[in-house]
Amino acid sequence: MRHLITIADLDVQEIMEIFTITTRLKTEYRQGIRAPLLAGRVMALLFEKQSLRTRVSFEAGMAHLGGSSMMLGSDTGFGKRESTADFARVLSVMVDVIVLRSKMHQTVVDVARHSSCPVINGLTDAFHPCQVLADLYTLQEHIGSLRGSKLAWIGDCNNVARSLALACGKLGVRMAVASPPDYRFTHAFLAELNRSVPELDLTMTEDPQEAVFDASAVYTDVWASMGQESEREQRQRDFADYQINKDLMASAPEDAIFMHCLPARRGEEVTDEVIDGPHSVVVAQAGNRMHVQKGILVWLLC
Ligand code: CP
Ligand code: NVA
Repeated sequence: MRHLITIADLDVQEIMEIFTITTRLKTEYRQGIRAPLLAGRVMALLFEKQSLRTRVSFEAGMAHLGGSSMMLGSDTGFGKRESTADFARVLSVMVDVIVLRSKMHQTVVDVARHSSCPVINGLTDAFHPCQVLADLYTLQEHIGSLRGSKLAWIGDCNNVARSLALACGKLGVRMAVASPPDYRFTHAFLAELNRSVPELDLTMTEDPQEAVFDASAVYTDVWASMGQESEREQRQRDFADYQINKDLMASAPEDAIFMHCLPARRGEEVTDEVIDGPHSVVVAQAGNRMHVQKGILVWLLC
């Protein structure tokens, strides 16, 4: 039995298998075919933080595949009524797969350790693997071949950036990161990258213009992630020079795409002009969450 806790759990062949299943399901979906590959299977979703995309894309995807899903609320008492281990042991004998969004990464790790069914990380403070699989699938759709291409990450080296670094390493995508010095990848995470993806071609700079040079994709995320709301004003000051606007996009190649995991804070990390502009693929990128997660579910459960 497999879990999807971080991209480090997957090798490149497995990522390509998920992408192949995704392409088949996405093509069939567009033809009006919804093969009930997961008929009778049940998915439990448990979210300690807000979500639109992750929750809806998993629920819709499971419905397309003939399975059912249940969103567990605070009435289950997760983290309060019984131990996490007991919760995971019991839940996993009743459902076939668990999607968990937790405040602390360790919670997903603990649930997976005690679960008898696959557990999928739906975002933690440390990683967001489902997001970045959809991101690299989207990039591949736009540029054809990922190997040797370059993704520029502008902003906070957060959960999405960390997962992207792992995925870029696995798939041969060069990554250029532009962030203020205090918001770079930590030494501990750089050591983890070195262990998991020694082949990653990573450059780090304080200069967004330098990072976007030669990039196939320019990617950003909010400056203050969920759980960092109290740091928002400080971060607005610290990231003021890291906005993706028309001027910065002009330094990128003419055919570079703009990516954002969403939700966005328009006027902060990105201007309306860019996110609504011709380079932006953010809606297709969000839509691919559903297609790729269907691929993940079929890969894990079939
Ligand atoms: N990108 C993403 O995970 O969105 P949600 O927080 O809405 O799920
Ligand atoms: N970095 C953001 C991603 C949201 C999908 C957060 O954790 O809030």
